[in-house]
Amino acid sequence: MSIAVIGAGYVGLITAAGLAQIGQHVICVDDDLRKIEILNSGAMPLYEPGLGELVQRNRQAKRLEFISQIEDAVANCQVIFICVGTPPLENGEADLSSVELVARRISQCARGYHLVIEKSTVPVQTGRRLQKHFAVYRSNSQFQCDVASNPEFLREGSGLEDFFHPDRIVVGVDSEKAAALLEEIYRPVLEQSFVCPIHENCQSRSRVPFVVTDINSAELIKHASNSFLAMKISFINMIADLCEAVGADVGKVAEAVGMDKRIGSSFLRPGVGFGGSCFPKDLQAFVRVGEEAGCDFSLLREVERINQRRVDLLINKIKHELWVVRGKRIGVWGLAFKPHTDDVRSSPALAVIRRLLAEGAQVRAYDPQAMQKAKAEIPEIEYCADAYAAAQDAEAVLALTEWEEFLRLDLRKVRQIMVRPLILDGRNMFSRATMAGFGFEYLDIGSAGVGS
Ligand code: UGA
Repeated sequence: MSIAVIGAGYVGLITAAGLAQIGQHVICVDDDLRKIEILNSGAMPLYEPGLGELVQRNRQAKRLEFISQIEDAVANCQVIFICVGTPPLENGEADLSSVELVARRISQCARGYHLVIEKSTVPVQTGRRLQKHFAVYRSNSQFQCDVASNPEFLREGSGLEDFFHPDRIVVGVDSEKAAALLEEIYRPVLEQSFVCPIHENCQSRSRVPFVVTDINSAELIKHASNSFLAMKISFINMIADLCEAVGADVGKVAEAVGMDKRIGSSFLRPGVGFGGSCFPKDLQAFVRVGEEAGCDFSLLREVERINQRRVDLLINKIKHELWVVRGKRIGVWGLAFKPHTDDVRSSPALAVIRRLLAEGAQVRAYDPQAMQKAKAEIPEIEYCADAYAAAQDAEAVLALTEWEEFLRLDLRKVRQIMVRPLILDGRNMFSRATMAGFGFEYLDIGSAGVGS
């Protein structure tokens, strides 16, 4: 089957490479000519573990191509995935202008039957609007289409894992034909019958649930899933604050709470808060959707508020420890919103750095992947060659992204090169006992801390 994937961003590239790997012929389109040039030169416009190799392998096998003209893709593909960005507007709503633009261009050039699938995260009822759009704007009366929703659940940094071994595949359709086409496209993933490109001895072989719903429900499932996960994080962060106040250990609390199968242990890691291009934006968009529908979504407003306060609380801790921040040298380990990505969008680390700069601190930062992108956002700080350089002569180091490489540091050396051996761990990545053993003043999130 020939499939068009519109948008060569994070979701589009993983979808395109993933579909190509399971045997489809994929044409990936982006109107950013530079991005297409980069991809056609064998390089990658973003960092995602394993994705570069997968793209190259499928390009060489002639199952994956990159072009800039949407018309060429539509002419050759019955199935079209829309994977363009839906960034937030000022009022929190999702900006659907890129989706609308793609729909308009499809309407202008499509002939015959097409299945148009929204994969971008969109508010509920976008599918309905797309159906209406195609009915109104199609320029050829032979253009017939089904619209479907197929939300993505791809975590940055683990996107290939999530594409090939998903917990479920959700499709929202209003025709049997659309459901059948989507089942056919995903059959190798549903049956786990593909040659796994990420695990040598892939053990994950149980059938993946295929959830078929109406279009509205599928759209809503995506926002509800992300909001629920964000809610878990804010919940454990709220508990972490209580643990700090009363002298309990949030690590133990989260571990035991998560052992209850009804709750589950994932997304109960406390820290400096969630960031990225999804949770903050999707929460806001879902709140708008709820409010517009006349529903009380104040629960999610609280989730957002708790998250925003994470940075304030960390800054308060630094001020408490350093007394005067102005003029002090502070090292920052980690800039990405989470490890295994170079993405700094809504990264709590950048929010912390901006606040430190406003307090007059001298910030020296290091991240294994995200420095280039961080530099574009905050050019005025010093970016260091490694974590040691960031800690050199610092009066405090803030650990803000839990990269494994930080766990392999020679802590004795770090201890020696700092002016004051104070570590504030915003991701609870180090062990309190180890840090105490090396003589650090160590403050994590959600416990009294050995140095206080
Ligand atoms: C999230 C969802 O997990 C994906 O299922 C979804 O497809 C994606 O958004 C999307 O909508 O496209 P992602 O934003 O890549 O994926 O990252 P997560 O792994 O979910 O982490 C989000 C943030 O929460 C990070 O800043 C992370 O550090 C933070 N987090 C996560 C915590 O603070 N505590 C936790 O226990 C887990």
